[in-house]
Amino acid sequence: MIEATVSAAPQPILRADYRGPSFFIDRVDLRFELGEDLSRVHATLSLRRADGVPDDAPLVLDGEALKLLHLALDGRTLGADDYALTATTLTIPGRGLAAAFELRSVVEIRPQDNTELSGLYRSSGNFCTQCEAEGFRRITYFLDRPDVMARYSVTLEAERARYPVLLANGNRVAAGELADGRHFARWDDPFPKPSYLFALVAGDLRCLPGEFTTRSGRAVRLEIWVEPENIDRCEHALRSLIKSMRWDEQAFGREYDLDIYMIVAVNDFNMGAMENKGLNIFNAKYVLARPDTATDDDYQAIEQVIAHEYFHNWSGNRVTCRDWFQLTLKEGLTVLRDRLFSRDMRSAAVARISEVLGLRTAQFAEDRGPMAHPIRPESYIEMNNFYTTTVYEKGAEVIGMLRLLLGPDGFRRGMDLYFDRHDGQAVTCDDFLAAMADASGRDLAQFSRWYSQVGTPIVRARGEHDPDARTFTLTLEQAPPHGRHDAALLHIPIAVGLLAPAADGARALPLQLADEPAPGATTRVLELRAANQRFTFVGVDAPPAASLLRGFSAPVELEVPRSDDELALLMASDPDPFSRWDAGQELGRRALLRLADDAAAGRPLALDPRFVAACARVLADPHLDGSLKALALTLPGERILGQHQEVVAVDELHTARQFAVRALAEALREPLQALYAATAPGPYSIEPAEVDRRRLRNLALGYLVALGEPQTVALAQAQFAAADNMSDAQEALACLIDHGGPARDAALAAFHGRWCGDPLVLDKWFALQAMSSHADTLARVLELATHPDFNLGNPNRARALLGTFGARNQFHFHSRCGRGYALLADKVIELDPHNASMAARLVAAFNPWRRFDAARQQAMRAQLERIAGQPGLSRAVHEIVARALAPV
Ligand code: BES
Ligand code: ZN
Repeated sequence: MIEATVSAAPQPILRADYRGPSFFIDRVDLRFELGEDLSRVHATLSLRRADGVPDDAPLVLDGEALKLLHLALDGRTLGADDYALTATTLTIPGRGLAAAFELRSVVEIRPQDNTELSGLYRSSGNFCTQCEAEGFRRITYFLDRPDVMARYSVTLEAERARYPVLLANGNRVAAGELADGRHFARWDDPFPKPSYLFALVAGDLRCLPGEFTTRSGRAVRLEIWVEPENIDRCEHALRSLIKSMRWDEQAFGREYDLDIYMIVAVNDFNMGAMENKGLNIFNAKYVLARPDTATDDDYQAIEQVIAHEYFHNWSGNRVTCRDWFQLTLKEGLTVLRDRLFSRDMRSAAVARISEVLGLRTAQFAEDRGPMAHPIRPESYIEMNNFYTTTVYEKGAEVIGMLRLLLGPDGFRRGMDLYFDRHDGQAVTCDDFLAAMADASGRDLAQFSRWYSQVGTPIVRARGEHDPDARTFTLTLEQAPPHGRHDAALLHIPIAVGLLAPAADGARALPLQLADEPAPGATTRVLELRAANQRFTFVGVDAPPAASLLRGFSAPVELEVPRSDDELALLMASDPDPFSRWDAGQELGRRALLRLADDAAAGRPLALDPRFVAACARVLADPHLDGSLKALALTLPGERILGQHQEVVAVDELHTARQFAVRALAEALREPLQALYAATAPGPYSIEPAEVDRRRLRNLALGYLVALGEPQTVALAQAQFAAADNMSDAQEALACLIDHGGPARDAALAAFHGRWCGDPLVLDKWFALQAMSSHADTLARVLELATHPDFNLGNPNRARALLGTFGARNQFHFHSRCGRGYALLADKVIELDPHNASMAARLVAAFNPWRRFDAARQQAMRAQLERIAGQPGLSRAVHEIVARALAPV
């Protein structure tokens, strides 16, 4: 017998290898005996062989961490010789199988030991599930793939005293008492679904009920389920759900389809939330809100996540993915839908700017690192590693481009056809594109390359004014992403406008291309399809300022040779709010990168006075709302700045940004002080105008405290002490943490004392310290990692400290001493055996390692190699680390 001495490297799964299933499962009957020590799952599956599959093809079921107690085929108990078990499969040879048959199994599982939080597990004493992507196989033997869709009937049995509430997908059809203080409930889901949408919950929970009447007049019962002490934090979630249901009817004509919709909040959850049919399970962070515990951003995030999971009922559940390579089919589309919703609920411009900030900070970086992949990946080792910003955010951008190209009505017709054609099916991204093409009559062949191309394309623009001909010619050129040469030409929508400088700023020109009879609107979507294209606008008297990529019409990097003066003009008067903000960011970026160069060369630092003047104008502009002003006056972050350098100059960027913040604060001291004094809070409300006011006032506070003067620090102390809401309290605390000293220590102690029993608020206490720019942050993070309240096993707590530190504190994480790296690697190694997918998310902080200087590269590489050398490393962490270390 040959014994394996080394475990083989995990093999990737390829998109090209997709084969349909050999068997389908039409019906599933599950019975759960839930217990403190052991739980048992009884499953009855109605299977049938797929058409054209040979009679001798075996049945191979997925199963992981299951103890098989019993197996019967059409009523006949199978013996050990009748099947074969491995750590991940159960195989029954094909010769014994009829065309259709019934398979019963009983397995034993231990939810209390399930630290991966995938499958059936326990959180705060309750039972809950998470099955996407491949967690159902940890509950019972099954064909755990999304193209196998079945009707489920589920019975839960548990002790009544500990688990009075028993929930599963669909409608509750029976309930009652059992012997020994146990009870049961039976649930029936009439819609066939893939196993990843299965869910159950058992526990001691309270519910906030609600009602929604669909536009066809059906009454739907709504239930938000939480731990008893949180029942006063559910109203916002319920309101958000009702808004989402109404909006999907109005915007997409989509109605809810069951009699009940439940949301359950749990404290231990790897992700944000999950769209299980009729029974969403949420990270408590995206449900619970009360003014004193949740910030304005939390309120918005809750509204958006609730909407997202609700929208999946159509884009994901009714029409699902054929295989996991198609993930962006449901996620990219649903992110676009939740963004359209959010833009309708509040300032569309603010929402769009936040979307783009996120894309540029995280997705552009992913595109330039070892995890770069198309929105429809070609291969994966661990599917959990591909719930990425590329699949989600870039995926949403791609569908957003389609909407721009087809127009809102054309897009809506495409969506209607897609839902109509594929309701109840598991389909592909190509099916989606075909519906869009068929409904609009447009050829999307070139556009479809967005699904297979890797990296962020570069678009270069050049403008030339001809005073004699009174024309302005815009030349657009598409170039392959950084470091890639294999890119095919894409179909890229570029929204443009032209501004004529005028006495009071600028005037938007009605646009007329050379072959058009008359001028039209002031914004135009140009379609770039060739490597190089020229667009000639006529009737342009003087050299205009070109406003390009309005609304961020495509996920590209735009390079335009233009002067700071032109940017300042756009920043002051571009009617497109996104482009206006973007011009300011580019101007700020240029100023900060020059400062970083000066810092590197030991030259004295001085912030460009033109930039300061532009900021002063924004601050004084009576037409801008507070949130837009706050965004415009927030300097580009160090991570984004680093993306514009050959080698990220960690220390110089930090010096430059810190310097610029103080310089701006000094220059704008008076208006900032006046603004702070004039916008004192009244009674708390989450109305948009109040959110705007808080955002701007807290921005002012940040600048003032950065001056580090006793009177300005006192403002933060006073705000912290008086705040009746978490937004104001958190912002004041963040300022005090950055300032340091006894003011910080007192505020941190007070905050901890008040909130130590509240896990979501305590997460903020960890995250704010991990984010801080203060010089001693690294030492404090090292200490916090041993704090009694730190708990690596709780994903929210681990993310609050380590996720924040690795992803949102470039300066301190990349501290030259390397202790930040060592801490992160230690924690990845510690967590990997318990929760591999969380460990893999944390280790991704090392992904950009090749973008740094030689010493830092070496230090990060050493940690990556140390992790790679761990015996028994999970597939998930192995995949990330191996990709990071692979030669470029
Ligand atoms: N289907 C996902 C949740 C999920 C992802 C489960 C990966 C298992 C593995 C859900 O719809 C989702 O996308 N949630 C996001 C939040 C959303 C608003 C983008 C999340 O959990 O981060
Ligand atoms: Zn989703």
